[in-house]
Amino acid sequence: MTTTAAPDAGRSAGDVHYPVTLTTADGVRLDIAVPDGGDVVTAARGAGLVLPSQCGQGTCGSCHATARGAYRLGPHSPAALPPEQEAVGGVLLCRTYPLGGVQVQVSYPRSRIVDGGIGRREGTIEAVTSIAHDTVWLRVQAAPDAAAGTGVEFDPGQFVELQLPGDDRRRAYSMANTPNWDGELEFLIRLHEGGYFSGYLADLLAGRRPLGERIVLHGPTGAFALRESGLRPRWFVAGGTGLAPLLSLLRRMAEWGEPHPARLLYGVTAEHDLPDLPVLAEITDALPGFELVPCVWQPGPTWTGRCGTPADVLAEDLAGLRVTAAPDVYVCGPPLLVDAVQQVVRAAGLPDGHVVTERVLPT
Ligand code: FES
Repeated sequence: MTTTAAPDAGRSAGDVHYPVTLTTADGVRLDIAVPDGGDVVTAARGAGLVLPSQCGQGTCGSCHATARGAYRLGPHSPAALPPEQEAVGGVLLCRTYPLGGVQVQVSYPRSRIVDGGIGRREGTIEAVTSIAHDTVWLRVQAAPDAAAGTGVEFDPGQFVELQLPGDDRRRAYSMANTPNWDGELEFLIRLHEGGYFSGYLADLLAGRRPLGERIVLHGPTGAFALRESGLRPRWFVAGGTGLAPLLSLLRRMAEWGEPHPARLLYGVTAEHDLPDLPVLAEITDALPGFELVPCVWQPGPTWTGRCGTPADVLAEDLAGLRVTAAPDVYVCGPPLLVDAVQQVVRAAGLPDGHVVTERVLPT
């Protein structure tokens, strides 16, 4: 709930700071002071704590949290924070301006908050492969550095920002693989007509640019992750390139031999959008309890699989489930899909804690 309180009397606005307490999912408490008129993400960064965030403009939803106390929410997209979440204390920390003391609960553990600053690393583009008519698989080799050596460390579900040579712009992409000692990073990228990064990748695909060019990697960061909740089944729901972080989570489960029953509902518009991804077969082989469920929204006459959006298929499959078998649902994709899945999960009577979300915005 948003409430208001007057700033400290007798001091100029620039001197006024409000106490904000952040509590992480693993119970760690962090105290920061936010200047009057400042937002929580920026103030935390000033205190040497980089919170998971991306756009800084209230549009991506990656800084979502819940809050109690005196604060004002700045302009933001309802896709990033739907009104019904705002009504029960949902906030976007990049748009949260304290007006007094605020207690913030974040959904991720302390390890997702980076001390100091976001890492910066050089890399080279090693391969670009077309896997569907509008999607490519990108492989980047991180250059060894003094801090990380030859490997790449990140938590499955996280993302980095890629910066192309000679350009200040950055684009955020989730890793589709898992941390490794070889320094390899894999990404799934949708090609958009006229898109900035898309044009670059299209040139690489067509051989108009050489492979091996240097890029800069900023990160890792991001709060999307597997939750520890016993042996509850894990259902993964993906649309578009939201598949990438879910592949990372599934590959981690395969590496660790995790026994949870797992399903991946992957939605595409038409059959020809289904990606040719050998890694899906590898996951199927490595995880005995895994089932891949392609969902086609506009199927052709020969399609014999599931029809509808992944949210439609999820609703069908949740119907009739006993509560004791209720899965955790991990959803990553466009905001419309994420919102639809949240509604389906709620309508099925699953507690809010059963759904873990990540919104993918067009870049
Ligand atoms: S970083 Fe706050 S909504 Fe994107």
